[in-house]
Amino acid sequence: MQFSLECKKALVTGGSRGIGRAIALALAEAGADVAVASRKLPDLEKVAAEIRKRGRAALAVEAHVGRMNQIEGMVKAVKDSFGAIDILVNNAATNPSMAQAMDIDERAWDSIMNLNLKGLFFASQLTARVMKESGGGSIVNVSSVEGISPGILPVYSISKAGVIHATKVMAQQWAAYNIRVNCIAPGLVRTEFSRALWDNPDILGAVTSMTPMGRIGEPEEMAGAVIYLCSDAAGYVTGQVIALDGGKTI
Ligand SMILES: NC(=O)c1ccc[n+]([C@@H]2O[C@H](COP(=O)([O-])OP(=O)(O)OC[C@H]3O[C@@H](n4cnc5c(N)ncnc54)[C@H](OP(=O)(O)O)[C@@H]3O)[C@@H](O)[C@H]2O)c1
Repeated sequence: MQFSLECKKALVTGGSRGIGRAIALALAEAGADVAVASRKLPDLEKVAAEIRKRGRAALAVEAHVGRMNQIEGMVKAVKDSFGAIDILVNNAATNPSMAQAMDIDERAWDSIMNLNLKGLFFASQLTARVMKESGGGSIVNVSSVEGISPGILPVYSISKAGVIHATKVMAQQWAAYNIRVNCIAPGLVRTEFSRALWDNPDILGAVTSMTPMGRIGEPEEMAGAVIYLCSDAAGYVTGQVIALDGGKTI
């Protein structure tokens, strides 16, 4: 029962596919009503239907989480519909460029930072204000092993290191409001986002050879830690990072 999320109201950004979808469905299975947000409503509606099939309320919110007015609209829509937000999973992120640090341009920098870091921070701030009113909540940020040590995506890696530090800052500042803030750091996971990496036999071979478990992760394998971090089982846990990477960061 410590892991139950019965009666909780959750918002998952980037909930239309991949890791965000897997987390949204797992939250519903643990008992939460779940809102999913991203840019494409038809994809979100499909996930919302899957949540309703699990007997929970669902809401699909079209929002670009790199734009302030749309972040504000997203948080308001969820609060107005559910009456509260107990759980926020900041999962939406982008990496539009494979360029290395010597070549990457300002446009790519801005698009990565606007969504991965600025959007994450302000979605958290606005949601934390709602959580504060209702006595607390739990925020889980999705970083990456690239945020722990640099990999092959330089600015993405910088943004994900920022996510880990943002987690610690928010955890420190908002503990007084009974808001816990934690972070997961996935290794390579089989989604559309990372297809260019796992579909390339050379990159796949390099990653799996450096991973003690000898394989990449599946989206569903990212959800259990989020359920734990959002639940009463993690009641004394805040500001922490859990790597979900088959042991790669060892
Ligand atoms: N896959 C991996 O190997 C891996 C490894 C480490 C960390 N991660 C992290 O895991 C998280 C999820 O990644 P994923 O692999 O599941 O990616 P994915 O399958 O590409 O899904 C990304 C999600 O984010 C949404 N999104 C993209 N841009 C958005 C924007 N501007 N505003 C709102 N939503 C937006 C997408 O929906 P729309 O297109 O409809 O907006 C989609 O729902 C990310 O934070 C990523 O950095 C992934």
